[in-house]
Amino acid sequence: MSLLSLHDVRKRFGSVEALQGVTFEVEAGTVVGLVGDNGAGKSTLMKAVTGIHRPDSGRIVFDGRPITDTDPGEVRRLGIEMIYQDLALARQQDVASNIFLGREPTRSVLGIPIGLIDRPRIESEAERIIARLGARIPSVRYQVGFLSGGQQQSVAIARALTFEPKLVIMDEPTAALAVREVDHVLELIRGLKRQGISVVLISHRLTDVFAVCDRIVCLRQGRVIADETTAKTSMNTVVGHIVGAA
Ligand SMILES: Nc1ncnc2c1ncn2[C@@H]1O[C@H](COP(=O)(O)OP(=O)(O)OP(=O)(O)O)[C@@H](O)[C@H]1O
Ligand SMILES: [Mg+2]
Repeated sequence: MSLLSLHDVRKRFGSVEALQGVTFEVEAGTVVGLVGDNGAGKSTLMKAVTGIHRPDSGRIVFDGRPITDTDPGEVRRLGIEMIYQDLALARQQDVASNIFLGREPTRSVLGIPIGLIDRPRIESEAERIIARLGARIPSVRYQVGFLSGGQQQSVAIARALTFEPKLVIMDEPTAALAVREVDHVLELIRGLKRQGISVVLISHRLTDVFAVCDRIVCLRQGRVIADETTAKTSMNTVVGHIVGAA
């Protein structure tokens, strides 16, 4: 069954036709690579899915529900999380606070919330999520700004998991990482899949895409020009699609 399906999605910014009728599906429990040159429309397409951009036309269905005109908060509630390249973390705050950024569990007295942040609970919940993810974070009390790029990526994924998503979209999660860290982030993506969470991986790094994706969708100038099972294509073929070789 397809978890996410896009049909003929179009989006124009002034004279730029960023999406010119995009159609594809993401099956439940799979990892789909979304590749394409700079400006191909990858980020725009995923922002259309998460409700940040409203498509000019077309149809987006998630988990059996039309979400074409749904706002970002509701899309999140339905189970889609997007992790942006800048990660949107608070670098001066620690790991635990970042995982619950803006919605820390509060203490209650006799069942009445008293508005104080329940720090012990935040820490234990953060530790539980990190363990579930298998992330390498030495302590949830570490300040995020001092963590490595890969660790920061793990914190962003851990944060996404607190929303109990069915689909996680990642925009260039390995772009700025050292080799060993890339391997760890790819392992985290495999872990999400093992937990039944689907992933859309936007990446320019084809080695990473081939390492974790079941399928590869290639966009060029706002159109899907290839949609292939990873096992049945090759890096050369995909590079050809991206650059537009015949
Ligand atoms: N908010 C916007 N306003 C105007 N034009 C935009 C906007 N967002 C994207 N575009 C344009 O839409 C096209 C697709 O951009 P998009 O960011 O989706 O590409 P991309 O595939 O994510 O590229 P990259 O690999 O560089 O991240 C580009 O021509 C871009 O300049
Ligand atoms: Mg982009």
